Amino acid sequence: MDTTITLTVNGKERTVVTDPERSLLDVLREELHLTGAKYGCGEGRCGACTVLMDGRRTLSCVTPVARADKKKITTIEGLADGGSLHPVQQAFLDEGAIQCGYCTPGMILNAVALLKNNPQPTDEQIAEWMNGNLCRCNGYTKILSAIRHAAAQIAEVRIS
Ligand code: FES
Ligand code: FES
Repeated sequence: MDTTITLTVNGKERTVVTDPERSLLDVLREELHLTGAKYGCGEGRCGACTVLMDGRRTLSCVTPVARADKKKITTIEGLADGGSLHPVQQAFLDEGAIQCGYCTPGMILNAVALLKNNPQPTDEQIAEWMNGNLCRCNGYTKILSAIRHAAAQIAEVRIS
């Protein structure tokens, strides 16, 4: 039976009436028309669908939308601050860490969660945290550089 779910997506309250078992990814893409989060494997193994739920990385393909009720969701569409890209977005551009771009929204949101938890990660910590996000274009070297770069940028802003 359909249920009313109210969630805050990128700062705006949204209400959907849907099957509570439907995936958060499906609701974001099909009901709210936010197509930044991607469908990759559909079973929690690739990270393409990563969003933030109350600031925590979340695989939206395996998250029933009922779990997002009353939660704050951030998708790639809501990461920039007005006209300014988030430092992680900017670093991915600056480092050329985007090829086909399919993995990029999930990579960026997972990296945002990492830097929130650990603003100065080692390369090993980055690799470990990002382990669940796959890039079919094999762009891992540049992705690692971008996350390092973003960490440095964020640290510089904190100091200045
Ligand atoms: S689509 Fe969600 S983890 Fe692959
Ligand atoms: S840039 Fe193509 S899948 Fe990562």
